[in-house]
Amino acid sequence: MISINAPQIGEEEIEAVIKVLKSGTLTSGLGNGPNVIKFEKAFAEFVKSKYAIAVNSGTAALHAALLAIGISRGDEVILPSFTFVATAEMIVLAGAKPVFVDINPKTYTIEPSKIEEAITKKTKAIIPVDLYGLSADMKVIREIADKHDLKIIEDAAQAHGALYKGEPPGKFADIACWSFYASKNMMTGEGGMITVNDDELAEKLRCIRSHGEREKYHSEMLGHNYRMPEIEAAIGYIQLKKLPSFLEKRRRNAEQLTKKLERCDELLLPRKPEGYRHGWYLYTVRLKNANANRRDIFVNELRKHGIGAAVYYHTPVHMMSFYRRFGAYRLPETELAAQQVLSLPVHPGVSERQIDFIAETVIQTLKKA
Ligand SMILES: Cc1ncc(COP(=O)(O)O)c(C=O)c1O
Repeated sequence: MISINAPQIGEEEIEAVIKVLKSGTLTSGLGNGPNVIKFEKAFAEFVKSKYAIAVNSGTAALHAALLAIGISRGDEVILPSFTFVATAEMIVLAGAKPVFVDINPKTYTIEPSKIEEAITKKTKAIIPVDLYGLSADMKVIREIADKHDLKIIEDAAQAHGALYKGEPPGKFADIACWSFYASKNMMTGEGGMITVNDDELAEKLRCIRSHGEREKYHSEMLGHNYRMPEIEAAIGYIQLKKLPSFLEKRRRNAEQLTKKLERCDELLLPRKPEGYRHGWYLYTVRLKNANANRRDIFVNELRKHGIGAAVYYHTPVHMMSFYRRFGAYRLPETELAAQQVLSLPVHPGVSERQIDFIAETVIQTLKKA
């Protein structure tokens, strides 16, 4: 099976892990061991942010970010429903109410023109999600946030390597949150990063990462254990060095696939708007006029041929049983996209020949359908 994503692990990562094990320093009390510090510095440089704070998952990054900007009971936070559940889950964990907004059907990211109608007196923040590796329309969202005095936490969990108006995720946000889950463009197995430019927020985020402590055993605020272990940080540092080559291979694979699939009238191919650079975390096509059943049959057919096609996401968050309590939403673009999208493998481990095979199989399967 050509998997939809796969961690790219070389000798360098293995050696780095062994080196940490031999050093005997596996973590540090405040989460700032030598490998963590080195990784944070390199990541901050990569995304042009003043600070980077390593944590142990993208989910932890989102929770810490929400706590740092003061989200609590009674607040509302705006987000797209077409996302991984963690985005909404952390809003609820922080005590606030998630308020779902529809997406743009071409980019699959939150539709800025629908945000203002969702703002109430209780709204404190917006979490745009850079879905599939494509940035949300951040400049427009920043203007809306400034007009209503709202904070922005950018969920960049899927967007390593993306650019928007020449800038990496985080440029137009107060805080950006990243994931290094094993499937991501760069990975540490599990892991996350928070990037921020504000000195005070950075200090708070570091405290939240380790039990609200600036100094061991002196809690100044409510925190957690969100520390990244040294082994993960050592892997992350190596992966970051390799990221440009991973991104280049993803881009080449995506372009090759687009060239081959362009003649398929039944498919809507991923298009990046002018001024964006796609991170190609997922190459997501849309089966035009399909319902979920037809799309799922198509995905299963591809899987029978050894192509790890996958659907992100079958169920928008507002339709999940737990999240229905937050309101009876109708989000037509989100609900339609959830029935029609499917993603095809373009990760750096996929060869040119495999891309040809994927394209040919997609074309033949569509002919039979
Ligand atoms: C959009 C989005 N947000 C948040 C997360 C949570 O990250 P993690 O799995 O590292 O907790 C993920 C990913 O897995 C994601 O894709």
